[in-house]
Amino acid sequence: MEEKRCVTMDKIVNLCKSRGIIFPGSEIYGGMGNTWDYGPVGVEIKNNIKRCWWKRFVQENPSSYGVDAAILMNSRVWEASGHTTSFSDPMMDCKDCKSRHRADNLIEAHSKGAVNPDVMTNEEMQEYIEKHHVCCPRCGNCNWTPIRQFNLMFKTSRGVTEDNQNVIYLRPETAQGEFVNFQNVQRTTRAKVPFGIAQIGKAFRNEITPGNFIFRTIEFEQMEHQWFCKEGTDLAYYDEFKKKAWDFLTDLGFSPDHLRYKDHDKLAHYAKCACDIQYLFPMGWSELNGIHNRTNYDLSRHQEFSGKTMLYNDPLTNEKYIPFVIEYSIGADRLMLATLSEAYDEEALEGGDTRVVMHFHPAVAAYKCAILPLQKNLSDKAREVFSSLSKKFMVTYDDAGSIGKRYRRQDEIGTPYCITIDFDTLENDTVTVRDRDTMEQIRLPISELEAFINEKIAFN
Ligand code: GAP
Repeated sequence: MEEKRCVTMDKIVNLCKSRGIIFPGSEIYGGMGNTWDYGPVGVEIKNNIKRCWWKRFVQENPSSYGVDAAILMNSRVWEASGHTTSFSDPMMDCKDCKSRHRADNLIEAHSKGAVNPDVMTNEEMQEYIEKHHVCCPRCGNCNWTPIRQFNLMFKTSRGVTEDNQNVIYLRPETAQGEFVNFQNVQRTTRAKVPFGIAQIGKAFRNEITPGNFIFRTIEFEQMEHQWFCKEGTDLAYYDEFKKKAWDFLTDLGFSPDHLRYKDHDKLAHYAKCACDIQYLFPMGWSELNGIHNRTNYDLSRHQEFSGKTMLYNDPLTNEKYIPFVIEYSIGADRLMLATLSEAYDEEALEGGDTRVVMHFHPAVAAYKCAILPLQKNLSDKAREVFSSLSKKFMVTYDDAGSIGKRYRRQDEIGTPYCITIDFDTLENDTVTVRDRDTMEQIRLPISELEAFINEKIAFN
């Protein structure tokens, strides 16, 4: 039986705006299409998502190393990687309303997913659009320009003159910062193949049709991990990373029913095999992350374009070779949207009320607990508890309104524990601890709170 989920994109967007999770970018100036600003709650959640990822893929892997490379790179990097010539989407303009669209998206929407444009050439797409009278989703007319490839890289220029020699790009993926540092990392860590290089950072793409809130934006963060291995071992590591990427999501609390693997039908210019993990977003199944077997394409191209060797010298066999790369790449903002969608719930309460509750994994929740003095004259004791726990993790404080309303506010931002300071606290140094998911309350000594919460918020 198909599961009925109450989450919709509108509910997520509204909750994010009203609870300080995500605001429209540059809002007081009327906004700036498809840019978003993370608010006080959102920045904590996103940082926690990034921390969990880093812990799993860098901290817990003795053979993985982190870098934080520059966003602006030498333009030769993008020539070597193939982005200057091949990082483009098939674009069409509506001659009547002047709106701009991706031909592949038009076909996918028109055929309701029955036709796969990934395996079509531009000519085949053009023919399909004409034959099936695929109309402009904005004005309804069918008056298109021919398809042309549109490069997604944002260009800017360095220095004071705006000539072609000074053109540089905002990086469209973080991966190249890992490849160009392959020798630096290997030399300084004395890592032996296989080993990994990971990075979390901003990427920029001039997407033709961004949208669906933070799903596809022009500025976003990627979490990427390149695993350098010997040719011949690549397929086994490809399978291993498919599993690791899946396990990371289920360990964060994602239901396996909302996840599925999807092999790529059309491979990128560098890939031997590639697949996505798709998530059942409120708007339907869509890519959440990718796992790509990039072969030794990137390192070979950087060797060719930079003139610097990318050979690895195997100390055991004395063999020299350019390693293959298994890439695992996931957008932090896209994972944020998936996390919000997965956590969202509306629960009927006794008495006819409904509560909105975000069932985040406690490691991801913005605040690990909320300190709620039952009455304002208990604030000295409550502040004392806040001040000791906030040295250990993010804690919030709320003394406004009835205790019931305060619980609801914390449920809506997914705070796993509410700690109420009452008059008994003054007598015996104990507090009530309410569990977000079960709404059950237990009484605990203040001295045990830190250990209790620390145990619950671990991400293993
Ligand atoms: N280095 C490989 C690479 O960049 P990709 O499939 O283009 O591969 C990897 O991107 C991940 O980055 C995607 O699975 C998605 O999570 C995220 N991503 C890509 N484009 C995005 C966009 N415009 N907005 C938000 N996230 C995006």
